[in-house]
Amino acid sequence: MNRIHLTNLLAFVSCFGSTMLLPQASHANTQVMNLSAMDIKVGIQQWGEPQAHTSDAPSASTLKFNTAVTTNADSRLTIKLFKGTKTLTGRVALDSRASPEAAALFSIWAGRVRLWASPLMQRDDPPIPFTLNLSKYGEITLKVDRQAGTAFKCPCDWLDTQFSYTGHEPLTVDKPSRWKNDFVPGAVWRDDKGAPIQAHGGGLLKVGSTWYWVGEDKSKGYNNFVGVHEYSSRDLVHWHDEGVVLPAGSLPSEFRSTGVCERPKIVYNRLTKLFFMWMHLDAHRYSVAEAGLAIAPKPNGPYRYVAAIRPVNNSTFRDMNVFVDRDGAAYLIYAAENNATLYVVRLDRSYGAPRRPEVEGSTWAKIAPGGWHEAPAMWRYGSIYYLIASHTSGWSPNAASLYTAKSPLGPWVYQGNPFKGPDADYTFYTQSTCVIPAPGHPGWFIYMGDRWNPGDLGNSRYVWLPFTITKGSEHFTIKWQSHWNLNHLGKNVNADGERTKHAMGH
Ligand code: GAL
Repeated sequence: MNRIHLTNLLAFVSCFGSTMLLPQASHANTQVMNLSAMDIKVGIQQWGEPQAHTSDAPSASTLKFNTAVTTNADSRLTIKLFKGTKTLTGRVALDSRASPEAAALFSIWAGRVRLWASPLMQRDDPPIPFTLNLSKYGEITLKVDRQAGTAFKCPCDWLDTQFSYTGHEPLTVDKPSRWKNDFVPGAVWRDDKGAPIQAHGGGLLKVGSTWYWVGEDKSKGYNNFVGVHEYSSRDLVHWHDEGVVLPAGSLPSEFRSTGVCERPKIVYNRLTKLFFMWMHLDAHRYSVAEAGLAIAPKPNGPYRYVAAIRPVNNSTFRDMNVFVDRDGAAYLIYAAENNATLYVVRLDRSYGAPRRPEVEGSTWAKIAPGGWHEAPAMWRYGSIYYLIASHTSGWSPNAASLYTAKSPLGPWVYQGNPFKGPDADYTFYTQSTCVIPAPGHPGWFIYMGDRWNPGDLGNSRYVWLPFTITKGSEHFTIKWQSHWNLNHLGKNVNADGERTKHAMGH
């Protein structure tokens, strides 16, 4: 029996909830894993944050369920199946909170092969059971597609959905192998040794044809127990581990252990031929709020701690970034005044200190006074300067703000939230850290964001998304892509990597 026939037969059988074809969980080692117990919050999804809960079974149903995982229509969750994964069973239905007009189609895929699909379902339809034999597959994707044209609220439930397996339990967060050369926002991103990349709140620098990515190593949690980790790459997708280039132990004691070292960024100074790492250094409970500086002769370190300062006004220094303009002028952009106001401060020619004497409006400026912004990312395209920042809600995501200006010192004009689509108000559950030009694609940029996992910060994900700006325009749109490739930028590819009439990013 070829695969298509088997698939059809499984789909047919599963519509009736039969387990006839399937191995029963009779083997002593067979275990079950509920979808609701998996690491789905940080899984690969079209968008949104599936919630595992037990009490919200669809209203039309008289059946009882122990678990329900709710996700939004147009979500995708890819799950890696280790050898030993046997079956997937469950039921699907629209959530009782869905609009009465909403309609969605549930389906389960192995790569391009559709293993099972529900009919189009509406809110009060009774749950539909499915049962699949998964022993042949290495990976599956659970999809929910909203009926074309329905703009209604459409939360959907996977009820009592569970895997049976022996050995290693299935995983929700790894990059699907067929997308290994793609950016896969929200998936675990592994380095060349297979370890998850630890470069949170990070920044990129290109030296020759090599990119360097520095960021916070949170493998030991919130506080600065490890230091700044660095990786290198030639294509931005595959990263070589360069190790911890500024170990926590090399910093003054108040900035290690219970202190923090956040949002490190590196820049190259042509005058001194040195690499400058600026970062937010802080003591316990963010009580010191200073700009840290470390210097290295090579981009991959080792970096040597130099000083911690408050650049201007003796104001607090927390979430930060560095921007280098085409004339070589470098600026620190950071959350000052206890995070109420962003400051932009020009550095001197060495990049090692603020330009003196400090004069507001000429060596430094305020951006959005009293706007309560964090996570600034500044860049330039043509004659316009752009700044994306978050609001201040700690590890919880909020809506991003875009500002534009004709000069880094402003005046900066608010341009709204550039993120569009479902969950744009939560920046697709991310917080900005950097924006870089997409190499080889003039007019294209890459948004780099962190999807924080507050309960387990080392297990936070990276969300990088491409977008395009029309030269001279103060507006652009950032949309979700479940995976994407630099080679396809500007081509007609949708979020599923399929060809469409509309160019990606527009
Ligand atoms: C965020 C900030 C992070 C970290 C966190 C602590 O708002 O962007 O860098 O400081 O708060 O709660």
